[in-house]
Amino acid sequence: MGYSSSVALLALLMSIVVLCNGGKTSTYVRNLIEKPVDMPLDSDAFAIPPGYNAPQQVHITQGDLVGQAMIISWVTVDEPGSNEVIYWSDSSLQNFTAEGQVFTYTYYNYTSGFIHHTTITNLEFNTTYYYEVGIGNTTRQFWLITPPKVGRDVSYTFGIIGDLGQTFDSNVTLTHYQNSKGKTLLYVGDLSYADDYPNHDNGETQPFKPFSNRYHTPYEASDSTEPFYYSIKRGPAHIIVLASYSAFGSSTLQYKWLQAELPKVNRSETSWLIVLMHAPWYNSYNNHYMEGESMRVVFESLFVKYKVDIVFAGHVHAYERSERVSNDKYNITNNICIPVNDLSALVYITNGDGGNLEGLATMKQPQPSYSAYREASFGHGTFDIKNRTHAHYSWNRNQDGYVVEAAKLWLFNRYWNPHDDSTTHKH
Ligand SMILES: *[C@@H]1O[C@H](CO)[C@@H](O)[C@H](O)[C@H]1NC(C)=O
Ligand SMILES: *[C@@H]1O[C@H](CO)[C@@H](O)[C@H](O)[C@H]1NC(C)=O
Ligand SMILES: *[C@@H]1O[C@H](CO)[C@@H](O)[C@H](O)[C@H]1NC(C)=O
Ligand SMILES: *[C@@H]1O[C@H](CO)[C@@H](O)[C@H](O)[C@H]1NC(C)=O
Ligand SMILES: *[C@@H]1O[C@H](CO)[C@@H](O)[C@H](O)[C@H]1NC(C)=O
Ligand SMILES: *[C@@H]1O[C@H](CO)[C@@H](O)[C@H](O)[C@H]1NC(C)=O
Ligand SMILES: *[C@@H]1O[C@H](CO)[C@@H](O)[C@H](O)[C@H]1NC(C)=O
Ligand SMILES: *[C@@H]1O[C@H](CO)[C@@H](O)[C@H](O)[C@H]1NC(C)=O
Repeated sequence: MGYSSSVALLALLMSIVVLCNGGKTSTYVRNLIEKPVDMPLDSDAFAIPPGYNAPQQVHITQGDLVGQAMIISWVTVDEPGSNEVIYWSDSSLQNFTAEGQVFTYTYYNYTSGFIHHTTITNLEFNTTYYYEVGIGNTTRQFWLITPPKVGRDVSYTFGIIGDLGQTFDSNVTLTHYQNSKGKTLLYVGDLSYADDYPNHDNGETQPFKPFSNRYHTPYEASDSTEPFYYSIKRGPAHIIVLASYSAFGSSTLQYKWLQAELPKVNRSETSWLIVLMHAPWYNSYNNHYMEGESMRVVFESLFVKYKVDIVFAGHVHAYERSERVSNDKYNITNNICIPVNDLSALVYITNGDGGNLEGLATMKQPQPSYSAYREASFGHGTFDIKNRTHAHYSWNRNQDGYVVEAAKLWLFNRYWNPHDDSTTHKH
């Protein structure tokens, strides 16, 4: 999270759709002969910044509960160097400094560079900050914009990308996102793909070792005990991140954390409740079909009860949006286990379409009724919260050239505006 962008350039283009048993399957057919390929290691996308021990792979994520701290992360390769970050805003009379920590890890016969994580704190809301890393050797400057103060009618635009990879298509996805209205990226998992680089998981026993070292999260701020699931508030949204690959049964730490977390969500403060996870619960592609089912069974009734507005997931390399459905009526005697339309339920969106080299998913036929729209193309989503009642989702398909809304709809907030928004659905 934390990508900053301000340029908005949106054009409208509707794609042709056909009606199936369920919702709509786009007739758009991507040129499948062009298999996605990784950008070569010497391409501009991976250019190593010049200078002794120059910071590379610089990335940021929210560092506290409300958006007044940011974790700045970067890698140096020649020596550990300094963990210090210098930061200031246009209106600050002095520079601030923060000190962090450096990490390294080994993975089979690979040894990482020096991975720095430094949290800058006491940031003002809705303010541009400049920050400098690489102190003492080669310094590099970047900037970020903090979110507005948490509030139920604040407008704020999130971007959604998943399963990105490092192909030429991935690069197009990022370029389109940079030209969208997105202010903060909600990343739904699976970043790099080592398929073409062998030896990537030989004999390693510690799960998520590279992730744990390279991507720190503010999990302690929301009383979580694992970096893989936690929550933050940002502008008008309370965002819960769940871990598809941590245990989630009713006696697990993740379940107990979520059970304690949901009643804490104050919809008068954060009107929108968003959940992020990797493996989708409602998926009508052949790839990873039903994989999210055991987690759905455990958590779905809580999501409906606490009026979650939307789930964003990845994992399946395509785009899909569900109807407002639930499937939580089953008990051992009634044998009812079919998704039904449910106005009190949420919408599920799969944005696993970032562009990685594994290619696109194939669809189950016919399209099931819970599936509102699906298309196997690369792209990204934006979720534009206007106020406590209305948000606008749009999906941008890479093949459309610049930033084009290939699918879009208004979503009504389940707590403040629980009316039927299906009539406002485009596709
Ligand atoms: C803050 O740091 C930047 C970058 O090192 C420098 O250009 C600027 O002069 C400093 N400002 C103050 C007030 O020290
Ligand atoms: C790691 O081991 C593989 C063979 O298992 C070898 O091809 C590769 O060169 C080794 N890398 C290093 C950095 O030693
Ligand atoms: C790089 O920076 C570190 C920390 O400031 C310093 O200790 C080290 O001497 C510097 N190395 C060089 C070659 O300048
Ligand atoms: C954020 O700051 C900009 C000016 O920099 C202002 O136009 C906008 O209204 C502010 N937003 C909020 C929610 O305070
Ligand atoms: C990636 O996209 C950027 C535009 O955002 C472009 O400048 C760059 O050349 C592209 N790199 C590759 C390898 O396609
Ligand atoms: C919920 O948020 C509102 C608005 O910030 C605040 O007035 C209220 O006290 C909060 N409720 C609780 C239980 O914290
Ligand atoms: C199971 O569901 C049926 C109808 O949905 C209900 O009548 C019955 O009481 C439920 N049984 C249990 C054990 O919850
Ligand atoms: C909320 O936003 C929607 C969409 O922009 C708008 O139609 C509606 O009037 C807004 N509601 C309020 C109370 O401003």
